This record gives sequence, C-alpha cells and structure tokens, in this order.
Amino acid sequence: MPAIVIVGAQWGDEGKGKASDQLGTQVDYVVKFNGGNNAGHTVIVGEESFALHLLPAGILTPGCTAVIGNGVVVDLDVLFEEIAALEARGVDTSRLRISASAHIIPAYNKRLDSANERLLGKRKIGTTGRGIGPTYADKMNRIGIRIQDLFDPSILRQKVEGALHRKNAELVHIHGEEPFDVDDVTNELLSYADRIKPMVINVSATLNKALDDGETVVFEGGQAVMLDIDHGTYPFVTSSATTAAGACTGSGVGPRRIDRVVGVAKAYVTRVGEGPFPTELLDEAGDRLREVGGEYGTTTGRPRRCGWYDAVVARFATRVNSLTDIVLTKLDVLTGIEQIPVCVAYNIDDGRVEDMPENQSDMHHAEPIYEYLPGWDEDISHCREFSELPENAQKYILRLEELSGCRISSIGVGPERSQTIVRYPLMD
Ligand code: GDP
Ligand code: IMO
Ligand code: MG
Repeated sequence: MPAIVIVGAQWGDEGKGKASDQLGTQVDYVVKFNGGNNAGHTVIVGEESFALHLLPAGILTPGCTAVIGNGVVVDLDVLFEEIAALEARGVDTSRLRISASAHIIPAYNKRLDSANERLLGKRKIGTTGRGIGPTYADKMNRIGIRIQDLFDPSILRQKVEGALHRKNAELVHIHGEEPFDVDDVTNELLSYADRIKPMVINVSATLNKALDDGETVVFEGGQAVMLDIDHGTYPFVTSSATTAAGACTGSGVGPRRIDRVVGVAKAYVTRVGEGPFPTELLDEAGDRLREVGGEYGTTTGRPRRCGWYDAVVARFATRVNSLTDIVLTKLDVLTGIEQIPVCVAYNIDDGRVEDMPENQSDMHHAEPIYEYLPGWDEDISHCREFSELPENAQKYILRLEELSGCRISSIGVGPERSQTIVRYPLMD
C-alpha cells in the first residue's frame, strides 16, 4: 500500500485539504509535516464546512490516524481549541498523534512576528502573524522549545530562560515592547503537559512500521512550492520546507518509501501576502475570479490576489517535487470566460524565459506571455467523467497537462467531496 505526498503546486490554497480528505477511508495515517496554523484548509463534507489550521484534513475521516510530524510548529493554544471545536461538532479526535520533536510556538514568537512585520514597514512579508517565522528561526538557531521539553520542567525552564535572554532583548531594545517573564512562559507551557502526553509518539518509527505492515500513509503539505523557504520567492515565503522533500525531513520517512507525489494546483492562481506574482490581475478579471472562486483566506480572511494559470510555476512545481500527478481544482470557476489566458513563459528583459528564473529581481519584473484558449459556458459542476466536460474544457485540461509536464489525474468542479472528475486514481 502506498505512501502519497500531497503538496501545493502554486502559492497555497489550491485545495490540498479537499484532495487529502477525498482519499478518505482508504487511508490509515494522514501526516502534517510542515508549517503550523498559518495553513487554512476548508473541507466540505455534505452540508458541513470545516476550517482546519493546525490539524490535517485526515482528522475528519473516521478510523484515520492524524499525525503532526516533527517538521510542524505547534501553537498549543490553537491545538486544543481546534480539538475542542471539532469534538463539539461530533468529530472524533482521539486518534490524533504528535511528534515529541515538533517545535512549539511560544507566545513571545507571536509577538515578534507582528513586531518584525511592523519593523519591515513597506518591505513586509504579509505573514499570517502566527509566530511561524520566529519559531522556525529559533529551531535553526537551536534555541527552540520542543514538545518533549514539556515533560521535564527543569529543562523546560532552562530552555525558556535561554531563549528569553535573546528574545526579550529583541522585544525591548529593537521593538520597544514589554519583556516576557521566564516563569510565566514556563508555567503556561507546563499547563499543557498532561493533556498532550497521551498524544505523543515517535512519528518516524510509527510511520515506517505502518508502511512495513502495508498500511497507507498520506503526507498532507501546508503552503506550497512558491512559498518554500528554499525554492519559493524568497524572502516572500513561509519559513518551512513545503515541497515533497519536506515530507521526509518533517516526518522521518525516507525518500525511497514515497510512491506518489501529488501537486495540487488551481485552474488559475491565487496568492495571499506580498511578493512577486507575474500573472496577477489587478483589473475586473481578477475581481471576477475572487468573487466567483470565493478567494478570501481561511486563516486571515484577507482577499486573495488572483491571476491566470502560470505554466512556468507548474513546470517548476513538477520539477522540484518530482510530481507524479496533478490534482487540478476549481475548473468550475472559469466557466463563462470567453477566452482564457494561460501563461506559457515569461518575458524578462526582452527575452523569452521558459523556466523559473533563479534571480528574484527577474521574477519581480517577469511579464507573462499568454496563449489564449477558448472557454465554455455550460455548467460543469455536475460533470463526473472527463468525457462529460464541454469540448473546450477538455482541451483546456489537455493543454495545461502538456504545459505543466505532469499528468492531470483529477479535476475539481466544485468544493464538495463528490464534485471531482477522476482520470487516474491516486490510489491503485
Ligand atoms: P488548501 O489550503 O490548499 O487546503 O486550500 P483552501 O481550503 O485554503 O482553499 C481552497 C478552497 O477552494 C476551499 O474553500 C475549498 O472548499 C475550495 N475548493 C476546492 N476544490 C474546489 C473546486 O474544485 N471547485 C470549487 N469551486 N471550490 C473548490
Ligand atoms: P495553506 O496551507 C497561502 C503566506 C502568508 C505570507 C507568507 C509567510 O492554506 O495553503 P507565514 O505566516 O507563514 O510566515 O507567512 O506565506 N502563507 C500562505 N499563503 N496559503 C497558506 O497555507 C499560507 N501559509 C502562509 O500569506 O505571504
Ligand atoms: Mg489554505
């Protein structure tokens, strides 16, 4: 049975939650391996809509074990809030498990996230303000606090003290903010210890054994390739490894165990936050995509920037992740557009560029080169077979497939679980 990685193939919010949820009862484990509650996945099950941030979408599937891997940064307050909110709606969260090595987002890092943004002023990243960047920075700086530290009060206090030495200096002297008290922070963290203890497991050992036993494991990525700390539009990125390789480092499962890598892409593109976005539409066409597609952030409610499908980004996503499949979502949103532009390459300094430029300045002034594909007017939200799609919609998919360098295995025609056309099943 397979190990399947699901990742964002654009700038996030492609519909990864729905794609993961859709694999459903065939899945034994769903693993979140990167990011934290900066993610926002809306999953619609029947009449109900769930907005998940820290918990992977697999939590909604009865019998599936949801796992938070070592690559995730955990806001403990949010974790228990999200658990309580789901339980109140009848979702069983008793199978949630968490890595002892996942890092914790302490209160001071949430404060620093917004303080850093204020300091950057016009050059701000447009973060979600959840403390993600400062917490990953602490991890790399080796002053992070991990889940396992909660079970040794004296070690925890030492670590908090060490971190606050630097963090308070930053807060007070750079940002003019109040310092945090070592005991207050330590005691707040300790207050979660008993509740979290039963959830803690060795994620690497558990998942490798599950794969040995023939169970199915889905790795559910947060964010997307263009927000990756190494491969994205740095510095306008998140601070984690969002690509398929991140599934390995963020869970302790080696690359040879991965069978499929699924990139989720919208039939157009959106982005929240600052940073370059070559196909961005600042006109009525962009407003139309936003309104018809409901493009407002699940996490912050911010209007998403909208633009046409970018095949340069798609080819890059295919290459960096070694995608085996693309799940294309929101095709229904394009219904009624007469001519649909698709970006096939960039024009940079009067030269045609087919590949993602490595130099960020090039990306900032890349102009899209469009090919125009004829649209369709028919409602496609009821289509369940590729052959039921209008001819021009079929041609749109086939052209995107050709340009993106990867087969399009499934097509979303609406937000509900059932509103999907499967061309090649993600699980054999
Ligand atoms: P994620 O962060 O990648 O999981 O994506 P989000 O949940 O932030 O954003 C995707 C949105 O698109 C959600 O509101 C989904 O319910 C919705 N969605 C997913 N697939 C489709 C689709 O094929 N058509 C339409 N109209 N909406 C979709
Ligand atoms: P999902 O998983 C879209 C963006 C923020 C900002 C940048 C850095 O729902 O696709 P951070 O708070 O992570 O330091 O912000 O990354 N960002 C996302 N954009 N979808 C997300 O998650 C995002 N998570 C972070 O808007 O530009
Ligand atoms: Mg989202």
